[in-house]
Amino acid sequence: MVKGKILVTGGAGYIGSHTTVELQNAGYDVVIVDNLSNSNADVIDGIERITAKRPTFYKNDCNDRVAMRKVFEQEKDICGIIHFAASKAVGESVQKPLLYYRNNIDSLLTLMELMPEFGVKGIVFSSSCTVYGQPDILPVDETAPIKPALSPYGNTKQINEEIIKDTIHSGVDYKAVILRYFNPIGAHPSAEIGELPNGVPQNLIPYITQTAMGIRKELSVFGDDYNTPDGSCIRDYINVVDLAKAHVIAVDRMLTGKSEEQVEVFNLGTGRGVSVLELINAFEAATGVKLNYKIVGRREGDIEKVWANPEKANNVLGWVAAEKLEDTLASAWKWQVKLRERGIM
Ligand code: UFG
Repeated sequence: MVKGKILVTGGAGYIGSHTTVELQNAGYDVVIVDNLSNSNADVIDGIERITAKRPTFYKNDCNDRVAMRKVFEQEKDICGIIHFAASKAVGESVQKPLLYYRNNIDSLLTLMELMPEFGVKGIVFSSSCTVYGQPDILPVDETAPIKPALSPYGNTKQINEEIIKDTIHSGVDYKAVILRYFNPIGAHPSAEIGELPNGVPQNLIPYITQTAMGIRKELSVFGDDYNTPDGSCIRDYINVVDLAKAHVIAVDRMLTGKSEEQVEVFNLGTGRGVSVLELINAFEAATGVKLNYKIVGRREGDIEKVWANPEKANNVLGWVAAEKLEDTLASAWKWQVKLRERGIM
């Protein structure tokens, strides 16, 4: 039985594609809107190979009001939205702030304006632990103060959270769930979908797997003089399929009226902090591949250490990050190997 139709913006992207798989497995119909600016249409084939079901796909910009109205008109009965579509490179956002403010703010405004007109019951928003900055207390929970953003990218996540809260408090009759992700990594166990950044990877895991494959000469570890046990930065690395499953639970809860508040916020992390050097060791242990790396200076804007207190999501959503780090790293490597076999990288 079909549970309902969900619009997934950015559904051809890294987290969006994994979430589409889990939504379809759970019995939802999925409509993807993606402008393919940082992904490609092959991802839709990958989703179909995993689920034996092809999501409906529109190649559109989410901030194109006319095009989005057409999607809602054509699809008629969209009951919920998961909004992933956004520009997400921290460094680029410093160079091109207007691009980030335009893309990331306008798309949310467009969707939220159209929701009441088409009777959409709720929206799940992709936020980030970046809103906490460097937390004073670790692990960080949802009540921690929001610190001034360190980049236009981070600022768009904070502003989007405010837009959602203000709109909900103004008395609209839909619900919202804000999910603050820690560092999503890994790939679907089938290796049919995974992370495929354009150009030189900015994030640690794709840089590691591309170095292990020989595409990059060596990995630079940004800093070993932080106030952490081994001097490298600490993050909370969360398996992307675990993360995707949390979205299905959030949508179920939002659409069945179980949520107590009209807007809810959840951290999605494992609760475990792992340093860059620990991660490199874990990757080598999980894959048997030796990694070329060197220590270099700190990267501007990096937070020293952050990991989640995921208890609220554990208790309220009944969700836990189940996958082991080693298995997640092995899945990222399997995906990289598959890209090589397919001649993509
Ligand atoms: N790192 C390296 N070498 C690299 C890349 C990263 O040492 O080549 C280190 C970073 O210094 C950091 C850790 O690996 O300590 C993780 O870095 P990522 O770039 O993978 O991720 P961030 O923690 O910087 O996360 C940021 C934002 C998130 C956003 C994410 C993806 O805080 O909100 O980038 O864009 F989702």
